[in-house]
Amino acid sequence: MFVTIASILLTAGMTLFWGVAGMMAASLPYARINRSLNRKRTFMLWAAGIAMLLSAVWYAAIALQFANSGWLFVEGTVKTLVPLTLVPQLYLAVMILPKLKGLRNSDGNPPTQEVLRTAAHPSVMPSFLAAALASGISAFSTFFAQPVLPGLFQIASRFLLIALLLLVPALFAYRSYLKVSRGEKLERGILARLLKFASAAVLTFVVAIAILVSNVLVGVNASKLPEASDMMNHDRMDEGGGAATLMSMSGGSDHQQHRAHHASGSAGADQIEVAALTGDISAPADKTFELVAQQKQMTLASGSVIDAWTYNGEIAPELRVQHGDMVEVKLINQDVDSGVTIHWHGYNVPNAMDGVPGMTQNVVKPGQSFTYKFRAGQEGTYWFHSHQQASEQVAKGLFGTLIVELKEEAETFDEQFTVINHRWMTDQGQIDAFGNEDGLQWKQVQPGETVKLRIINTHNLSQKYLLQGTDFRVTSIDGMKIQDPQPLSDQTALRLGSGGRYDVAFTMPNHPVFLKLGNAKDASNPGIVFYSGAKPEKPVSQTESAEFDPSDYGQPVVNDVTAAEKFDREFQMILGNRMGFYNGTFHFLWTINGEVYPRVPTLVVKEGDKVKTTFVNKSLGEHPMHLHGHHMTVLKKNGKKVKTPWLTDTLNVLPGESYEVGFVADNPGMWMDHCHNLDHAATGMILHLMYDNVRSSYEVGTRSGNLPD
Ligand code: C2O
Ligand code: CU
Repeated sequence: MFVTIASILLTAGMTLFWGVAGMMAASLPYARINRSLNRKRTFMLWAAGIAMLLSAVWYAAIALQFANSGWLFVEGTVKTLVPLTLVPQLYLAVMILPKLKGLRNSDGNPPTQEVLRTAAHPSVMPSFLAAALASGISAFSTFFAQPVLPGLFQIASRFLLIALLLLVPALFAYRSYLKVSRGEKLERGILARLLKFASAAVLTFVVAIAILVSNVLVGVNASKLPEASDMMNHDRMDEGGGAATLMSMSGGSDHQQHRAHHASGSAGADQIEVAALTGDISAPADKTFELVAQQKQMTLASGSVIDAWTYNGEIAPELRVQHGDMVEVKLINQDVDSGVTIHWHGYNVPNAMDGVPGMTQNVVKPGQSFTYKFRAGQEGTYWFHSHQQASEQVAKGLFGTLIVELKEEAETFDEQFTVINHRWMTDQGQIDAFGNEDGLQWKQVQPGETVKLRIINTHNLSQKYLLQGTDFRVTSIDGMKIQDPQPLSDQTALRLGSGGRYDVAFTMPNHPVFLKLGNAKDASNPGIVFYSGAKPEKPVSQTESAEFDPSDYGQPVVNDVTAAEKFDREFQMILGNRMGFYNGTFHFLWTINGEVYPRVPTLVVKEGDKVKTTFVNKSLGEHPMHLHGHHMTVLKKNGKKVKTPWLTDTLNVLPGESYEVGFVADNPGMWMDHCHNLDHAATGMILHLMYDNVRSSYEVGTRSGNLPD
């Protein structure tokens, strides 16, 4: 992050100083006497020197980032922007500046023709311009067009851009040079020079516009999502460097060939249809629920009104079952026109029950229903939400909680509260609330009683929680129990990425305990006061002194991945940002390996593989990376082994951070793997994980109405 900002500033500075040096250089042949030429020359050399100094600092910063964060953070810059800026600068340093430096005469005589010819040489001004453009493009790229895993084309295209933009100025420079060579005087009048500059600028502008327009036209069209595509149309696949999968063996990486296979069904001979991946659900249900998706006006505790889309007309309805139960949930869509589904976030159900429209089922349109049935194999705190146009549907309220209790809990609690925070769009603007409580809640708890909080963050951004007045323990992360969680002081803040959950336990002291969302100073944020006896004054929060760090907490998780010495497949996800097009419209895009869906390669695995994934966040935002159907074990953070590997289904990766996670491919199917900032996912921060022995006949796109983002 720091390097990113420093890079932008340094390259912007280089642009400025190369520009100034270039302007000085361009004015040399217009000098009337040697003295003024010499003055301009000195000024030019200073500006060029500063530009080169800035660039040296920039290269050093990149080297430092490489040393600190690793190659993946700098690869794109090193392959793309470094050569782009280095070439013109080296050319200037070796070929141009020494010649200009030689023009030392500072008397009052007019410059000789030889001097003027040197200064007006057509290699001079364009070289400065090239250095300035290269720096400018680098400044722009760092923010708006991050080079990630650049191919030859990406590298060459920036050089080409400079060449095109130099076309007009180079022609003008050449014309002046011819004039000087013929012994003619250059037009020195300020108006004439301005006119010349303006016409060069206008013509270059025309070139730039032409480049821009052609890019926009190509971008708009190339980014349009097809009306219909099936999930098997994977032009791009990544086998993570592992053994060949059925996909590549059946020619899956070849679009045409694979389609042919698919149509004739021959590739499917050894492949299972997603719809068949239900697990064993022959037993009768132990718990049945009905969830009716419906539009409903809801009112927050403060009276603010939400035009909500709900399940059962409730805010965050709870499904509570016991571990091992056969659970049956009938989803009925009453009137949500775009259709709905239910995805069990973090709950590793068999693929056919995962609720991703176009991938594991068809979207449930008004008047239709779909029944989910699965065995509750994981205990803990989970939530569910619609996966149809999720950024809109979750924001509007199509979510609830799934609480799975052990039949015999090792640790029991006197009180349990579910704290699900959400940011609602209301008639009063955006309001944060715990469920529908957007103010303070008061809960009576007797001293000595044990309390468990199940905190769930449904908002797109990570959220901070302060729990003050008592020590507490984090007993589960993303539904997974922590062994031997040590007490944390009440000056420890909790931060949950989007979609994440923490279970927190404390014993009620004989004074109030205060849970609140956000910073100590955010007075209007929702909170819960736990108290006994007479209702106390509203407690005051203090700014925390530490943030809870799961990488050093409790006992380390030990499993097949933590024990693995070798992985069958290794994938990289470099998270970046750039400007570009998604489905025909212009966006600030959040990218995976430089691309957005559907251009991000699908990760292909074989059942039983041990898989490692490295997340590298080069971008300027946090990304809660969520893998469906599997919990990931976090192994390394920023290149170092974590003290306590932990299990997560949604890993919040901050700018500048990298993580290595591992999982065992033990749940065959086609799974989403995406950023749980659902606004990011809605513009393509999505990819798929696919088992090579699985196929899906569902279709995505506007034709089917299956819009799984
Ligand atoms: Cu909670 Cu794919 O989502
Ligand atoms: Cu994101």
